[in-house]
Amino acid sequence: MIVQDQVVVVTGAAHGIGEGLARRFHKEGARGLVIADIDGPGVHKVAAEIGAVPMQLDVRKEAQIRELVALAREKFGEIDLFCSNAGISMRGGEEVSDDDWARIMDINFYAHLYAARAVLPEWRKRRKGYFLNTVSAAGVLTQIGSAPYAVTKHAALAFAEWLSASYGDEGIGVSALCPQGVRTNMILAEPGHFLLEGAKTVEEVCDAVIAGLRDETFLILPHPEVAEYFRRKAGDYDRWLRGMRRLKAKVFSQGS
Ligand SMILES: NC(=O)c1ccc[n+]([C@@H]2O[C@H](COP(=O)([O-])OP(=O)(O)OC[C@H]3O[C@@H](n4cnc5c(N)ncnc54)[C@H](O)[C@@H]3O)[C@@H](O)[C@H]2O)c1
Repeated sequence: MIVQDQVVVVTGAAHGIGEGLARRFHKEGARGLVIADIDGPGVHKVAAEIGAVPMQLDVRKEAQIRELVALAREKFGEIDLFCSNAGISMRGGEEVSDDDWARIMDINFYAHLYAARAVLPEWRKRRKGYFLNTVSAAGVLTQIGSAPYAVTKHAALAFAEWLSASYGDEGIGVSALCPQGVRTNMILAEPGHFLLEGAKTVEEVCDAVIAGLRDETFLILPHPEVAEYFRRKAGDYDRWLRGMRRLKAKVFSQGS
């Protein structure tokens, strides 16, 4: 997938990785760009700067994702690349309230399902379309200190995998973007966050995305070492879990 001349939708595009992707896709020559975020003024500002069509939406609402897809089709014709990127993080474990578990599940997983439902019927008919789903290394490995993030990102990765296995032969492409720390509000808002060490810039993540889309690789890993951690996890799960416990002890002893 080469972004030039393509019609692209990006969610979570008012800030962080989504904003970076929108700006980068504009530079790469996307033919039509529709960007959406729950932060209305934020997404309008980015859109005005790059000539994109903005929409304020809450990705938890399936009807709003359908409206986003309809808006993109009305403005530019069929969507070529849908980037389901909006996401949130949340600290905690089993004690997190049901409402918060539902909220993070809706944003980090269900939004990807709603996007697939909205675009797939047309994409399967024309045998063309590409999902870039922002997941996280937490979907491949885990997230120290956050069960809801780890679980919802595993769900997102499982769904992306399933889409690729099910529709890859019908011309549907899927990539799962799985970075570790990225220097956005998500971790910068928590000074001393353990992921800040080794964190990538949004620009570095965008470079990895452009290369990953070009090669149509399923896993896009801005931190290449994640592939090695994944191999170690598969190779000896118990040893990997012992390593996670050591990492958890280190992170918590540093108070982050
Ligand atoms: N920053 C990291 O370290 C990191 C690492 C791995 C994966 N990710 C993932 O990258 C994606 C983008 O995160 P980011 O780091 O750019 O964070 P960010 O907080 O800078 O940006 C997230 C964007 O999503 C929007 N958003 C949140 N809830 C929404 C909703 N219900 N509907 C519509 N928009 C909503 C926010 O307004 C914001 O603009 C997320 O899926 C996140 O899980 C981030």
